[in-house]
Amino acid sequence: MKIGKDVVKAARVLKAGGLVAIPTETVYGLAANAFDPQAVVGIYEAKQRPSFNPLIMHTDSLTKLRTWVEELPPLANALAERFWPGPLTLLLPRKTLVPDIVTAGLPRVGVRIPQNPLTLSLLTQLAFPLAAPSANPFGYISPTTAEHVAQQLGEKVDYILDGGPAQVGIESTIVGFESDGSPTLYRLGGIALEAIEAISGPLKRFTLSENPQTSGMLKSHYAPRVALHLGNLEELIAEFGTQNVAILSFREAVKGIERSLQRQLSPSGSLNEAAQNLFASLRELDQLPVQYILAEEVPAQGIGLAINDRLQRARFEHRQKPAEK
Ligand code: TXA
Ligand code: MG
Repeated sequence: MKIGKDVVKAARVLKAGGLVAIPTETVYGLAANAFDPQAVVGIYEAKQRPSFNPLIMHTDSLTKLRTWVEELPPLANALAERFWPGPLTLLLPRKTLVPDIVTAGLPRVGVRIPQNPLTLSLLTQLAFPLAAPSANPFGYISPTTAEHVAQQLGEKVDYILDGGPAQVGIESTIVGFESDGSPTLYRLGGIALEAIEAISGPLKRFTLSENPQTSGMLKSHYAPRVALHLGNLEELIAEFGTQNVAILSFREAVKGIERSLQRQLSPSGSLNEAAQNLFASLRELDQLPVQYILAEEVPAQGIGLAINDRLQRARFEHRQKPAEK
Protein backbone atom coordinates (compact mmCIF):
# COMPACT_ATOMS: atom_id res chain seq x y z
CA MET A 1 0.00 0.00 0.00
CA LYS A 2 1.17 3.45 -0.85
CA ILE A 3 -0.84 5.14 1.91
CA GLY A 4 -0.21 4.20 5.54
CA LYS A 5 1.13 5.10 8.95
CA ASP A 6 4.48 3.33 8.60
CA VAL A 7 7.08 5.84 9.81
CA VAL A 8 9.93 3.34 9.40
CA LYS A 9 9.03 2.78 5.77
CA ALA A 10 8.76 6.55 5.21
CA ALA A 11 12.24 7.02 6.68
CA ARG A 12 13.65 4.25 4.48
CA VAL A 13 12.18 5.81 1.32
CA LEU A 14 13.54 9.26 2.22
CA LYS A 15 17.03 7.94 3.01
CA ALA A 16 17.06 6.29 -0.42
CA GLY A 17 16.27 9.61 -2.13
CA GLY A 18 12.53 9.05 -2.63
CA LEU A 19 9.49 11.29 -2.20
CA VAL A 20 7.11 10.96 0.76
CA ALA A 21 3.97 13.01 1.39
CA ILE A 22 3.97 14.00 5.06
CA PRO A 23 1.12 15.17 7.27
CA THR A 24 1.54 18.46 9.08
CA GLU A 25 -0.90 20.50 11.13
CA THR A 26 -1.18 23.03 8.27
CA VAL A 27 -1.37 21.04 5.03
CA TYR A 28 0.31 17.90 3.65
CA GLY A 29 3.85 18.40 2.39
CA LEU A 30 5.72 16.67 -0.45
CA ALA A 31 9.01 15.79 1.22
CA ALA A 32 12.51 14.79 0.19
CA ASN A 33 15.96 14.84 1.81
CA ALA A 34 16.87 18.55 1.64
CA PHE A 35 20.57 17.68 1.45
CA ASP A 36 20.13 15.44 -1.61
CA PRO A 37 19.75 17.87 -4.56
CA GLN A 38 18.64 15.09 -6.91
CA ALA A 39 15.85 14.07 -4.56
CA VAL A 40 14.78 17.73 -4.30
CA VAL A 41 14.61 17.99 -8.11
CA GLY A 42 11.98 15.23 -7.86
CA ILE A 43 9.76 17.55 -5.79
CA TYR A 44 9.82 20.30 -8.43
CA GLU A 45 9.07 17.74 -11.15
CA ALA A 46 6.20 16.12 -9.30
CA LYS A 47 4.56 19.47 -8.53
CA GLN A 48 5.48 21.03 -11.87
CA ARG A 49 6.67 23.94 -9.83
CA PRO A 50 8.99 26.62 -11.26
CA SER A 51 12.46 26.16 -9.80
CA PHE A 52 12.80 29.84 -8.84
CA ASN A 53 10.55 28.94 -5.97
CA PRO A 54 12.29 28.10 -2.69
CA LEU A 55 11.22 25.29 -0.33
CA ILE A 56 10.75 25.16 3.43
CA MET A 57 13.03 22.82 5.42
CA HIS A 58 11.29 20.84 8.16
CA THR A 59 12.99 19.43 11.22
CA ASP A 60 12.19 18.31 14.77
CA SER A 61 14.82 20.20 16.72
CA LEU A 62 16.34 23.62 17.19
CA THR A 63 19.69 21.96 17.86
CA LYS A 64 19.77 20.41 14.39
CA LEU A 65 18.46 23.61 12.85
CA ARG A 66 21.25 25.74 14.33
CA THR A 67 23.80 23.73 12.33
CA TRP A 68 22.11 24.77 9.07
CA VAL A 69 21.68 28.53 9.59
CA GLU A 70 24.27 31.28 10.07
CA GLU A 71 22.44 32.80 12.98
CA LEU A 72 19.21 32.70 14.92
CA PRO A 73 18.46 36.34 15.83
CA PRO A 74 17.08 36.75 19.39
CA LEU A 75 13.62 37.59 18.09
CA ALA A 76 13.60 34.51 15.82
CA ASN A 77 14.60 32.42 18.82
CA ALA A 78 11.78 33.93 20.89
CA LEU A 79 9.22 33.16 18.16
CA ALA A 80 10.60 29.62 17.77
CA GLU A 81 10.39 29.00 21.53
CA ARG A 82 6.82 30.25 21.62
CA PHE A 83 5.34 28.72 18.47
CA TRP A 84 7.31 25.56 17.56
CA PRO A 85 6.24 22.90 16.93
CA GLY A 86 3.59 24.85 15.03
CA PRO A 87 2.47 26.71 11.91
CA LEU A 88 5.27 29.28 11.74
CA THR A 89 8.06 29.42 9.15
CA LEU A 90 11.13 31.60 9.74
CA LEU A 91 13.38 32.84 6.92
CA LEU A 92 16.94 32.73 8.27
CA PRO A 93 20.40 33.25 6.73
CA ARG A 94 21.51 29.85 5.46
CA LYS A 95 24.86 28.15 5.74
CA THR A 96 26.40 27.12 2.43
CA LEU A 97 25.70 23.45 3.18
CA VAL A 98 22.03 24.11 2.38
CA PRO A 99 21.78 23.34 -1.36
CA ASP A 100 20.90 26.14 -3.80
CA ILE A 101 18.02 24.09 -5.14
CA VAL A 102 16.29 24.32 -1.75
CA THR A 103 16.53 28.13 -1.48
CA ALA A 104 16.39 28.82 -5.23
CA GLY A 105 19.76 30.50 -4.75
CA LEU A 106 18.41 32.99 -2.17
CA PRO A 107 20.57 33.83 0.85
CA ARG A 108 17.88 32.81 3.34
CA VAL A 109 16.28 29.44 3.99
CA GLY A 110 12.73 28.87 5.26
CA VAL A 111 12.62 26.56 8.30
CA ARG A 112 9.95 25.18 10.56
CA ILE A 113 9.21 22.49 13.15
CA PRO A 114 5.76 21.13 12.27
CA GLN A 115 3.22 19.88 14.81
CA ASN A 116 2.17 16.37 13.86
CA PRO A 117 3.05 13.27 15.91
CA LEU A 118 3.78 10.98 12.93
CA THR A 119 5.90 13.55 11.13
CA LEU A 120 7.77 14.52 14.30
CA SER A 121 8.54 10.86 14.94
CA LEU A 122 9.74 10.53 11.33
CA LEU A 123 11.95 13.62 11.65
CA THR A 124 13.61 12.33 14.83
CA GLN A 125 14.74 9.29 12.82
CA LEU A 126 16.43 11.46 10.19
CA ALA A 127 19.75 13.29 10.44
CA PHE A 128 18.77 15.52 7.52
CA PRO A 129 15.94 18.08 7.19
CA LEU A 130 13.01 17.49 4.87
CA ALA A 131 12.45 20.00 2.08
CA ALA A 132 8.70 20.12 1.55
CA PRO A 133 6.29 22.39 -0.27
CA SER A 134 2.56 21.78 -0.03
CA ALA A 135 1.74 18.49 -1.80
CA ASN A 136 -0.46 19.91 -4.58
CA PRO A 137 0.20 20.57 -8.25
CA PHE A 138 1.61 24.11 -8.58
CA GLY A 139 -1.05 26.81 -8.16
CA TYR A 140 -3.85 24.45 -7.06
CA ILE A 141 -5.52 24.16 -3.65
CA SER A 142 -3.30 22.69 -0.91
CA PRO A 143 -4.12 19.17 0.37
CA THR A 144 -5.42 18.71 3.91
CA THR A 145 -5.90 14.91 3.79
CA ALA A 146 -3.87 11.94 2.53
CA GLU A 147 -6.65 11.29 -0.02
CA HIS A 148 -6.22 14.77 -1.51
CA VAL A 149 -2.56 13.95 -2.10
CA ALA A 150 -3.35 10.52 -3.55
CA GLN A 151 -5.90 11.98 -5.97
CA GLN A 152 -3.47 14.41 -7.56
CA LEU A 153 0.07 13.21 -6.94
CA GLY A 154 -0.52 9.54 -6.15
CA GLU A 155 1.46 8.34 -9.16
CA LYS A 156 4.38 10.60 -8.39
CA VAL A 157 5.09 9.92 -4.71
CA ASP A 158 6.69 6.80 -3.29
CA TYR A 159 4.71 6.81 -0.06
CA ILE A 160 1.97 8.84 1.63
CA LEU A 161 2.15 9.00 5.40
CA ASP A 162 -1.44 9.30 6.60
CA GLY A 163 -1.77 11.48 9.68
CA GLY A 164 -5.48 12.21 9.26
CA PRO A 165 -7.01 15.57 8.36
CA ALA A 166 -4.83 18.62 9.04
CA GLN A 167 -5.76 20.28 12.32
CA VAL A 168 -5.05 23.89 11.31
CA GLY A 169 -5.85 23.61 7.61
CA ILE A 170 -3.98 26.66 6.31
CA GLU A 171 -0.26 26.96 5.52
CA SER A 172 2.23 28.37 8.00
CA THR A 173 2.69 32.05 8.69
CA ILE A 174 6.04 33.15 7.18
CA VAL A 175 8.23 35.71 8.96
CA GLY A 176 11.62 36.86 7.65
CA PHE A 177 14.31 39.01 9.17
CA GLU A 178 15.81 41.80 7.07
CA SER A 179 19.52 42.66 7.18
CA ASP A 180 18.81 45.36 9.78
CA GLY A 181 17.14 42.70 11.94
CA SER A 182 13.57 43.98 11.45
CA PRO A 183 10.87 41.29 11.12
CA THR A 184 8.69 41.14 8.00
CA LEU A 185 5.52 39.17 7.32
CA TYR A 186 5.81 37.25 4.02
CA ARG A 187 2.64 35.18 4.23
CA LEU A 188 -0.39 35.19 6.49
CA GLY A 189 -1.01 31.73 7.89
CA GLY A 190 -1.89 29.39 10.70
CA ILE A 191 -0.57 31.57 13.51
CA ALA A 192 -2.58 34.74 13.98
CA LEU A 193 -0.71 37.93 13.19
CA GLU A 194 -1.79 39.38 16.54
CA ALA A 195 -0.12 36.50 18.39
CA ILE A 196 3.17 37.06 16.59
CA GLU A 197 3.08 40.83 16.95
CA ALA A 198 2.49 40.44 20.69
CA ILE A 199 6.07 39.13 20.78
CA SER A 200 7.72 40.88 17.83
CA GLY A 201 5.98 44.25 17.79
CA PRO A 202 4.52 45.49 14.48
CA LEU A 203 5.67 43.48 11.45
CA LYS A 204 6.42 45.07 8.11
CA ARG A 205 4.08 43.67 5.49
CA PHE A 206 5.29 42.26 2.23
CA THR A 207 2.73 43.14 -0.44
CA LEU A 208 1.50 40.80 -3.15
CA SER A 209 2.85 41.49 -6.58
CA GLU A 210 2.67 40.34 -10.18
CA ASN A 211 6.40 39.68 -10.20
CA PRO A 212 6.95 37.92 -6.94
CA GLN A 213 10.13 36.47 -5.55
CA THR A 214 8.16 33.47 -4.32
CA SER A 215 4.89 31.67 -4.97
CA GLY A 216 3.48 32.68 -1.59
CA MET A 217 3.56 36.20 -3.00
CA LEU A 218 1.66 35.36 -6.17
CA LYS A 219 -1.67 37.09 -6.47
CA SER A 220 -3.16 33.95 -7.96
CA HIS A 221 -2.49 30.75 -6.06
CA TYR A 222 -4.40 28.13 -4.09
CA ALA A 223 -7.02 28.38 -6.86
CA PRO A 224 -9.82 26.01 -7.92
CA ARG A 225 -10.45 25.37 -11.63
CA VAL A 226 -14.02 26.63 -11.49
CA ALA A 227 -14.04 30.46 -11.56
CA LEU A 228 -14.40 31.76 -8.00
CA HIS A 229 -15.95 35.16 -7.31
CA LEU A 230 -15.60 36.74 -3.90
CA GLY A 231 -17.85 39.36 -2.37
CA ASN A 232 -21.25 39.91 -0.84
CA LEU A 233 -23.26 36.75 -1.59
CA GLU A 234 -26.54 38.58 -2.23
CA GLU A 235 -24.88 40.88 -4.73
CA LEU A 236 -23.02 38.01 -6.38
CA ILE A 237 -26.23 36.02 -6.76
CA ALA A 238 -27.93 39.09 -8.26
CA GLU A 239 -25.10 39.22 -10.80
CA PHE A 240 -24.54 35.52 -11.56
CA GLY A 241 -27.98 34.07 -10.81
CA THR A 242 -28.89 30.88 -8.93
CA GLN A 243 -28.27 28.43 -11.79
CA ASN A 244 -24.89 26.82 -12.32
CA VAL A 245 -23.43 28.28 -9.14
CA ALA A 246 -21.97 26.74 -6.01
CA ILE A 247 -21.80 28.68 -2.74
CA LEU A 248 -19.03 28.91 -0.14
CA SER A 249 -20.29 30.80 2.90
CA PHE A 250 -18.98 31.36 6.40
CA ARG A 251 -21.94 30.37 8.61
CA GLU A 252 -25.25 30.20 6.79
CA ALA A 253 -26.47 28.47 3.67
CA VAL A 254 -28.13 30.64 1.02
CA LYS A 255 -31.86 30.07 0.57
CA GLY A 256 -33.10 29.02 -2.84
CA ILE A 257 -29.95 27.10 -3.86
CA GLU A 258 -29.68 23.36 -3.49
CA ARG A 259 -27.82 22.36 -0.33
CA SER A 260 -25.56 19.89 -2.14
CA LEU A 261 -24.13 22.86 -4.06
CA GLN A 262 -23.21 24.70 -0.86
CA ARG A 263 -20.60 24.47 1.87
CA GLN A 264 -20.53 26.42 5.13
CA LEU A 265 -17.05 26.85 6.60
CA SER A 266 -18.33 26.95 10.17
CA PRO A 267 -22.03 27.03 11.08
CA SER A 268 -21.06 27.88 14.67
CA GLY A 269 -18.92 30.81 13.52
CA SER A 270 -15.52 29.44 14.63
CA LEU A 271 -12.62 30.79 12.57
CA ASN A 272 -10.45 27.81 13.50
CA GLU A 273 -13.07 25.43 12.17
CA ALA A 274 -13.43 27.58 9.05
CA ALA A 275 -9.68 27.30 8.42
CA GLN A 276 -9.81 23.50 8.90
CA ASN A 277 -12.61 23.22 6.34
CA LEU A 278 -11.48 25.80 3.79
CA PHE A 279 -9.38 23.77 1.34
CA ALA A 280 -11.47 20.57 1.49
CA SER A 281 -14.63 22.62 0.85
CA LEU A 282 -13.04 24.39 -2.11
CA ARG A 283 -11.98 21.05 -3.56
CA GLU A 284 -15.47 19.60 -3.16
CA LEU A 285 -17.11 22.59 -4.84
CA ASP A 286 -14.51 22.43 -7.61
CA GLN A 287 -15.74 18.89 -8.45
CA LEU A 288 -19.33 20.04 -9.05
CA PRO A 289 -20.77 20.62 -12.51
CA VAL A 290 -21.16 24.38 -11.99
CA GLN A 291 -19.82 27.41 -13.80
CA TYR A 292 -19.04 29.62 -10.83
CA ILE A 293 -18.16 29.36 -7.15
CA LEU A 294 -19.55 32.35 -5.25
CA ALA A 295 -17.80 32.96 -1.93
CA GLU A 296 -17.80 35.42 0.94
CA GLU A 297 -15.02 36.52 3.27
CA VAL A 298 -14.93 35.62 6.96
CA PRO A 299 -14.43 38.13 9.83
CA ALA A 300 -11.02 39.77 9.40
CA GLN A 301 -9.42 38.84 12.70
CA GLY A 302 -7.03 36.15 13.93
CA ILE A 303 -6.71 33.28 11.45
CA GLY A 304 -9.61 34.91 9.52
CA LEU A 305 -7.03 37.20 7.89
CA ALA A 306 -5.24 34.16 6.44
CA ILE A 307 -8.53 32.60 5.30
CA ASN A 308 -9.45 35.81 3.46
CA ASP A 309 -5.96 35.98 1.96
CA ARG A 310 -6.40 32.48 0.49
CA LEU A 311 -9.90 33.31 -0.79
CA GLN A 312 -8.58 36.43 -2.51
CA ARG A 313 -5.88 34.44 -4.25
CA ALA A 314 -8.40 31.81 -5.31
CA ARG A 315 -10.34 34.54 -7.19
CA PHE A 316 -10.83 34.19 -10.89
CA GLU A 317 -9.88 37.86 -11.41
CA HIS A 318 -6.43 37.10 -10.04
CA ARG A 319 -5.83 34.10 -12.20
CA GLN A 320 -2.81 34.64 -14.40
CA LYS A 321 -2.54 33.67 -18.01
CA PRO A 322 -1.18 30.14 -18.29
CA ALA A 323 2.59 30.12 -18.80
CA GLU A 324 3.65 29.44 -22.37
CA LYS A 325 4.79 25.92 -22.91
O1 TXA B 1 2.52 25.15 6.19
C1 TXA B 1 3.39 25.17 5.33
O2 TXA B 1 4.21 26.10 5.23
C2 TXA B 1 3.42 24.01 4.33
C3 TXA B 1 3.77 22.74 5.09
C4 TXA B 1 3.97 21.56 4.17
O3 TXA B 1 4.91 22.97 5.87
N1 TXA B 1 4.37 24.27 3.29
C5 TXA B 1 4.15 25.19 2.32
O4 TXA B 1 5.16 25.23 1.39
O5 TXA B 1 3.17 25.90 2.28
P1 TXA B 1 5.00 25.97 -0.02
O6 TXA B 1 6.27 25.70 -0.73
O7 TXA B 1 3.77 25.52 -0.67
O8 TXA B 1 4.94 27.48 0.38
C6 TXA B 1 6.06 28.04 1.02
C7 TXA B 1 6.24 29.47 0.64
C8 TXA B 1 6.43 29.65 -0.84
O9 TXA B 1 5.69 30.78 -1.26
C9 TXA B 1 7.89 29.91 -0.95
O10 TXA B 1 8.18 30.62 -2.11
C10 TXA B 1 8.18 30.65 0.35
O11 TXA B 1 7.41 29.95 1.28
N2 TXA B 1 9.59 30.51 0.75
C11 TXA B 1 10.23 29.39 1.09
N3 TXA B 1 11.54 29.63 1.31
C12 TXA B 1 11.72 30.95 1.12
C13 TXA B 1 12.85 31.83 1.15
N4 TXA B 1 14.07 31.36 1.43
N5 TXA B 1 12.66 33.14 0.89
C14 TXA B 1 11.42 33.59 0.58
N6 TXA B 1 10.32 32.82 0.52
C15 TXA B 1 10.47 31.53 0.77
MG1 MG C 1 2.03 25.76 -1.64
